[in-house]
Amino acid sequence: MKILFTAVAVALVAATAFAAQSIPPNLRETALATFKPLPFTPAVTNNPITPEKIALGKALFFDPRLSSSGVFSCNSCHNLATGGDDNRETSIGHGWQKGQRNAPTVFNSVFNKSQFWDGRAEDLKAQAKGPIQAGVEMANTPHRVVETFKSMPQYVEWFHSAFPEEADPITLENVANALADYEGTLVTPAPFDAFLNGDDTAIGPEEKQGLALFIEKGCSSCHSGVNLGGEGYYPFGLVEKPTADVLPENDKGRFAVTNVPEDSYVFRVPSLRNVAITAPYFHSGKVWDLREAVAIMGTTQLGQELTQIEIDRIVAYLHSLTGKRPEITYPILPTETPTTPRPRS
Ligand code: HEC
Ligand code: HEC
Repeated sequence: MKILFTAVAVALVAATAFAAQSIPPNLRETALATFKPLPFTPAVTNNPITPEKIALGKALFFDPRLSSSGVFSCNSCHNLATGGDDNRETSIGHGWQKGQRNAPTVFNSVFNKSQFWDGRAEDLKAQAKGPIQAGVEMANTPHRVVETFKSMPQYVEWFHSAFPEEADPITLENVANALADYEGTLVTPAPFDAFLNGDDTAIGPEEKQGLALFIEKGCSSCHSGVNLGGEGYYPFGLVEKPTADVLPENDKGRFAVTNVPEDSYVFRVPSLRNVAITAPYFHSGKVWDLREAVAIMGTTQLGQELTQIEIDRIVAYLHSLTGKRPEITYPILPTETPTTPRPRS
């Protein structure tokens, strides 16, 4: 009993000392040197955003006829009602095939400097053409996509008003343009942004301690900028290699893009916005508990065994990155006609 009491007392003293010393007075200024708050409007090149394009992009995002089976829409794997992802280890696509990687959220993806876990697409527009044609995802062809949308008069009208200067606007290029513009609206300002923007009460003391730790420990050296990630590339296992179940040997990450041996097991640093609602974690999707993911980051990327209290604080801070998701009404989609290509199995 006495031993237990002493242990509790020691823990309390430690916790109090921790609480007393760990909110630096200039926390916001320090944070602003590394992070950037929302809202802020992303720069879009060569693809001016218009309400017509956004509306078309939204219809396309929800339209399963973008896939050859007529079953999978972008929203199947990036469900906007559940965090912009599919809550699965790895995704299920065309013909019930299991993909190799976890689906990242589409929320705030517009702020990533490159797309995909290995950064193989330079922006959202380049990205969007990937899943439409990927055999394990939507398994479609550019020709069939064009045929599909040309067969529905309502889509023909929508494409013309979204791209008024083009005589023949129904192209895979423009499907990707419109999808990218719609995705640019999927932005989620969070309590952390309100804190960065000057509201001291937007996040509590525990979150502030977590933020201070996030910076002190070095998490922010990789997870920085407006998206707390989405920019650099680092080995998963910079200091210590993760276990083979978390880092499967057959996925070498960026090596497949660059063919440079040093890029083996290198991945794009993921954004941590909304991370509390987008389990499971890592490109393998093998970790379901955010506390475990943070502990793994401590050992693999920093060579540090984080204490339970440190993990609690950091996780509290990560919760302050859960943003306000836009209210989304389900779009009513054009009806198919006799000339619409039939679904394939
Ligand atoms: C069958 C499931 C599936 C479908 C359908 C799908 N995606 Fe994905 N998406 C994924 C997976 C898995 C990844 C990660 C793949 C990788 O990194 O190699 C991904 C990655 C992305 C990314 C990159 C995000 C980031 O942080 O790098 C964006 C953006 C995206 N998808 C948008 C879309 C759009 C738009 C559509 C519809 C045209 C779509 N996806 C259809 C599963 C899917
Ligand atoms: C050296 C760079 C680096 C450092 C330092 C770092 N990370 Fe990461 N982080 C990454 C990379 C790269 C990944 C993606 C790993 C993968 O799945 O391949 C990642 C993934 C994550 C994930 C999973 C996100 C998801 O959506 O699956 C979380 C959570 C995370 N990091 C939090 C942290 C925390 C907390 C710290 C500090 C304790 C930290 N990271 C330190 C590079 C880093």
